[in-house]
Amino acid sequence: MTLGEALRASAEYLERKGVDSPRLDAELLFAHALDLSRIELYTHHDRPLNEREATAARALVERRGRREPLAYVLGEWGFRHLTLRTDARALVPRPETEIVVERALARIAGAESPRVIDVGTGTGAIALAIAQERPDARVVATDLSPDALALARENAERLALAVELVHADLLEGMDGRFDIVVSNPPYVHGGEELPAELAFEPRGALYDEGQTGRLVDDARRLLDGWLVLEVHAHGADDVAALARDRGYRDVSVTLDLAGRPRVVEARWSP
Ligand SMILES: C[S@@+](CC[C@H](N)C(=O)[O-])C[C@H]1O[C@@H](n2cnc3c(N)ncnc32)[C@H](O)[C@@H]1O
Repeated sequence: MTLGEALRASAEYLERKGVDSPRLDAELLFAHALDLSRIELYTHHDRPLNEREATAARALVERRGRREPLAYVLGEWGFRHLTLRTDARALVPRPETEIVVERALARIAGAESPRVIDVGTGTGAIALAIAQERPDARVVATDLSPDALALARENAERLALAVELVHADLLEGMDGRFDIVVSNPPYVHGGEELPAELAFEPRGALYDEGQTGRLVDDARRLLDGWLVLEVHAHGADDVAALARDRGYRDVSVTLDLAGRPRVVEARWSP
């Protein structure tokens, strides 16, 4: 079987399994298994696959066919300017979270050596992206999940980025003043229809257990600056109203690329 034939058969298999972007996923999986770029997949289209290559690619395609997230199968995922290690210990960083980072960076643009805390850091995505894009920032990141913290630590070490990682329930035990509290807390509600891939991600990273409301309350103790929160598209108005009710000022909501309200920002001065 040639590489081109194997790719086509794999894309058809993934389509039958309900994968959203079967051709793209097949290409990325083959490129990973064969250590080729996607362009090279095309230039090598007619070359036969040897047994070792076919076995390696098939194993990855089968995992994806079981609807394991592409990022877990590949073991790494791009987030802003970083490539993060990704596995089942933490949520796969999403494109909308890149907008959260963009908003957080905008809020600290004028601050010198800003103090930043990322609550519920998962892979470390938000904290590490801010540390990379604002090298003068002093970044702390918390998570309740020891597994997520271990993965975030691996990412920080591989990327040689300085982030202080703390095992904590939201902001419990934290003190000092921060220019920004940023978070993508869990915000899925039971009863929502979810893509099959989410069954592979940690439940504690997905399901809302009141973390957003607690953060709006608790962040006031530490903030002299901005709270920047990723929210469920259906919850943005409620979170913005809660922030106003708790005395925050300059509350605003930013839309994601699909036009859904996904980021709430609010200012707190002690
Ligand atoms: C939606 S994921 C976000 C992960 C990462 N920030 C990202 O955007 O890709 C939420 C994260 O919050 C963590 N988490 C959930 N409840 C928490 C709590 N009470 N305190 C600290 N972290 C919590 C989860 O373990 C998970 O890593």
